[in-house]
Amino acid sequence: MALPVGVPRIQLGSINGLEVSKIGLGCVGMSATYGPPKPEPEMIKLVHHAIDSGVTSFDTSDFYGPYTNETLLGKAFKGVRQKVEISTKFGVRLKDDKLEIQGHPTYVREACEASLKRLDTDCIDLYYVHRIDVRVPIEVTMWELKKLVEEGKIKHIGLSEASASTIRRAHSVHPLTAIQTEWSIWSRDLEEQVVPTCRELGIGIVAYSPLGRGFLAAGPSFIQNLADTDFRKRFPRFKQQNLEQNKHIYDSICEMAARKGCTTAQLALAWVFLQGEDVCPIPGTTKIDNFNQNIGALMVSLNSEEKAELESYATLDVIHGDRHAFMSQTWMNSETPTLSQWTSMK
Ligand code: ATR
Repeated sequence: MALPVGVPRIQLGSINGLEVSKIGLGCVGMSATYGPPKPEPEMIKLVHHAIDSGVTSFDTSDFYGPYTNETLLGKAFKGVRQKVEISTKFGVRLKDDKLEIQGHPTYVREACEASLKRLDTDCIDLYYVHRIDVRVPIEVTMWELKKLVEEGKIKHIGLSEASASTIRRAHSVHPLTAIQTEWSIWSRDLEEQVVPTCRELGIGIVAYSPLGRGFLAAGPSFIQNLADTDFRKRFPRFKQQNLEQNKHIYDSICEMAARKGCTTAQLALAWVFLQGEDVCPIPGTTKIDNFNQNIGALMVSLNSEEKAELESYATLDVIHGDRHAFMSQTWMNSETPTLSQWTSMK
């Protein structure tokens, strides 16, 4: 397959922005969160292949593994650190076997120091709040992140799954560089409020799960064959009954891809590229062939009729199941207390 000559570069965030490749690499699948961890030498090879291909933006989190994904990337970036943009996240952890979302300043600092060690670097390019702690005013979390910027431990700040008002409040403490949210032809809930707010404030948008966690790239059989330990097994859209109904969406996209002479993954990514120059999709993969296919999407163009056709296959009325297993942790539930409410709660 012919690969694009040079992956374009874009800037995330208009205030002191971060330059990244137009497509990034989501790394969660390399570690234990998506089924068993993949062999380390192969994953390091994939990371180096990505860099050689012009994909320099890597997305991880301390929660992936947990922790092991950052350690893996720390090893992979040895000797090539200056060529890459590292994005990682904090704020979701397992505590007594339960998920906890934590945005307290003491924890922000602890988590950052630990990520720096695992990533074997002295500065994180883009540090995200992975999920918003609705017990702590977003300003309080941001004050600590701002200090980390001033100390040179992180360069840029982002939020993942934050509502428009949370974005606005956070941005008033320190300019945000990126908002990371799920965005694909079948997850478009951010378009009404989150996207316009980012554009008004000059904040870049990083689209996670642009392949619908694999469904849009490989269909229902791929999902059915996921390991039992795979985090995605819990997702409503992938429960047997919903999956059967959602199969039609995949079938229609397959048929369109065949007509266009590309793959369904490329069609799904081409749609995300059309959303704007301020948008960077980060498809996840653990395979060089799939990676090559995904960057090949940069050469797939969609005219407005084709875009509309693709969108018509994944309208809200035909999608079965919520996009996330923990909808309570998406932007829809990310309002934090005001500073005065917080003071009176203490
Ligand atoms: P996430 O953000 O959860 O990583 P995603 O980017 O929408 O979600 O999809 C990632 C999934 O799509 C991965 O399971 C990946 O599987 P591999 O590691 O086996 O590649 C799958 N995937 C990515 N690109 C693909 C492609 N071109 N063809 C088929 N499956 C692909």
